[in-house]
Amino acid sequence: MGGAAMSFSPAWLALREPADRAARNKDVRAACASHFAKHETINICDLGAGTGASLRALANALPARQRWTLVDYNAENLAAARTALTAWADTTETNDGILILRHGARTIEVHTRRQDFAENPQCWSADTDLVTASALFDLASQEWIERFVARLAADETPLLSMLTANDVIVSNPAHALDRAVVAAFHAHQTRDKGFGPSAGSAAARLLEESLRNAGYTLAVGDSPWELSWSELLQTTLDGMAHAVGETNKVSAEDIARWRAHEREHLTVGHRDVFARFI
Ligand SMILES: C[S@@+](CC[C@H](N)C(=O)[O-])C[C@H]1O[C@@H](n2cnc3c(N)ncnc32)[C@H](O)[C@@H]1O
Repeated sequence: MGGAAMSFSPAWLALREPADRAARNKDVRAACASHFAKHETINICDLGAGTGASLRALANALPARQRWTLVDYNAENLAAARTALTAWADTTETNDGILILRHGARTIEVHTRRQDFAENPQCWSADTDLVTASALFDLASQEWIERFVARLAADETPLLSMLTANDVIVSNPAHALDRAVVAAFHAHQTRDKGFGPSAGSAAARLLEESLRNAGYTLAVGDSPWELSWSELLQTTLDGMAHAVGETNKVSAEDIARWRAHEREHLTVGHRDVFARFI
């Protein structure tokens, strides 16, 4: 759920990080790890890096010496990334603004770059081995996704995309208004998040189609949030209710009835994909 009604504050990203970590698809990550298994070093560019959660989730699966460039337009998130990565690492040195982290057997050089990539998706350098993104593509438009994939395919750069929303939202116990609320929520997800009309719940399918059409070979898998009795569950339901309220597709009374219904569990669907040329 990249583009819910929530803002992408460090607090929101911290709340979702454990659910994201549990959700990230292990087979897709293993396909990526196996592709780079013989590499001693790897140069990664993470688009929409937020507070660096993808680095923390992937570091142990990737080669021993890693260079990450975390790109985001939100300076507060990038500052929080440096703090969170310093806390996560066993040791940290700073050299000219670059963080050098040691984490277990990994040595990780971290560069942060503040950049808005809505106009020009290509923010990775020519020597990048892997582009990563998580919870990003559902914010982007179909046109941007196609432009991004065309740039990526031009130099055959592999992509690991995680946690792209799809259209699965299932609550337990169910409520009679679930169908209407979820439809209105999905409509809200298509609002412009800075890239033109968002792909929203169609993003995972559009990204996979676009990568296949560009000649990539894909490893794909589901990466749903499975939320039970948690703050994230309540915050997600609040976010959905707020978003649906903005659509005028469901009455305020019905939204209030839907929100008052107690849930034990909520599944929020996402997809992961590793795309490579060989
Ligand atoms: C849902 S958050 C995901 C953060 C991180 N990848 C994670 O999984 O925790 C989306 C991130 O993309 C960034 N973002 C959104 N639009 C952007 C743009 N046009 N240019 C650069 N960053 C952008 C936001 O600031 C935010 O940090």
